[in-house]
Amino acid sequence: MLLRHTLGLFAVASAAWGLMAPVQANTLKIGMILPMSGPFAAYGTQIQNGAKLYLSQHGDTVAGKKIELIIKDDTGVAPEVSKRQAQELLIKDNVDILAGFGLTPSAFAVAPLSVQAKKPMVVMNAATSSVTSKSPYIVRTSFTLPQTTAPIASWAIKNGINTVYTVVADYGPGHDAEAQFKKTFSAAGGHVIGELRTPVKNPDFAPYLQKIKDSKPDAIFMFVPAGEQGVAFLKGFKERGLAEAGIQLIATGDLTDEDVLDAMGDAALGVTTSFHYSEAHDSPENLAYTQAYAAAYPKNRPNFMSVSGYDGMHLIMETLKKTQGDASADAFIAAAKGSSWISPRGRITIDPETRDIIQTVYIRKVENINGKLQNVEFDHIADVKDPGKQ
Ligand code: DHB
Repeated sequence: MLLRHTLGLFAVASAAWGLMAPVQANTLKIGMILPMSGPFAAYGTQIQNGAKLYLSQHGDTVAGKKIELIIKDDTGVAPEVSKRQAQELLIKDNVDILAGFGLTPSAFAVAPLSVQAKKPMVVMNAATSSVTSKSPYIVRTSFTLPQTTAPIASWAIKNGINTVYTVVADYGPGHDAEAQFKKTFSAAGGHVIGELRTPVKNPDFAPYLQKIKDSKPDAIFMFVPAGEQGVAFLKGFKERGLAEAGIQLIATGDLTDEDVLDAMGDAALGVTTSFHYSEAHDSPENLAYTQAYAAAYPKNRPNFMSVSGYDGMHLIMETLKKTQGDASADAFIAAAKGSSWISPRGRITIDPETRDIIQTVYIRKVENINGKLQNVEFDHIADVKDPGKQ
């Protein structure tokens, strides 16, 4: 009886294995954790658009294995949801690679699972410097806040801005931006005369704007997560007459993200930012990218998140080519280190020491180009490593 039962189980198991084995062997599963609903839903749309565009252009098969994307919605700033989604992807779906991560709290929540499950984790937006240090299996194709902040601090001091009030969202990337701005700007002789941290969710900027205006800085430097918050801030900045009072607005390019630039309207004209990607970046690779993006997703404008999704998928596919389809963490990360290619944003390289991205950071100003607001690049600093790691 016992024997029959055991054999029976064995028969069922081997039949199931017989059915499943070829499917498993020929499929590589990528579990993408992204905000697909809530206030940051646009991040998920953009990252997913970029990743899927890459696969549609380059094919979804590598080393004889078909790539399967599984998308999970973590709803934005909800680390416990991100963690639950990752557990499900790892245990139920048996994914080979974790990817996505719109916001830092999501990346922080999932990093320990990448360590425990020993799975590669490709970060396609979350931009707090320390994210890559939370698991040896993390590699990032987006940017870091210190990387995009240092250049605008240097630009400011060279362009007659001597006093600055900093305004940042009160969490990882905001703290990074605030610290790096102060460090670079002060070292060059500038003075940060006020610092404000605003809530990550639903901030109301109105009460602060008058106070900042009264303190008469040459400029405000700001970082808030890309999207509606920037639109609201700019509206208040305009309504309260800060520009008329001679206060400039400088920021990382999150503020003038192409996704919300149309909604900002002319209030955004002249805002100077530093960033790693602009839809208006002048290169053959970006022309091809923006045209393909427009054809595939006519309702969206390509932005920095879409490019990180596109480059993230490039990194995954090229790395799997090198490992001949081996997605195990040690092999994958070893092969990913040092990867370098021409992205729509210019040359990018995965730093072999930190697994973070090395890239050119551009200084840009919002201008109206043929009826469309664009971040027009007018200066750049090549091959910037994350200063947050030094
Ligand atoms: C994060 C970083 C950004 O630059 C941004 O625009 C939105 C979110 C983050 O790391 O949470």
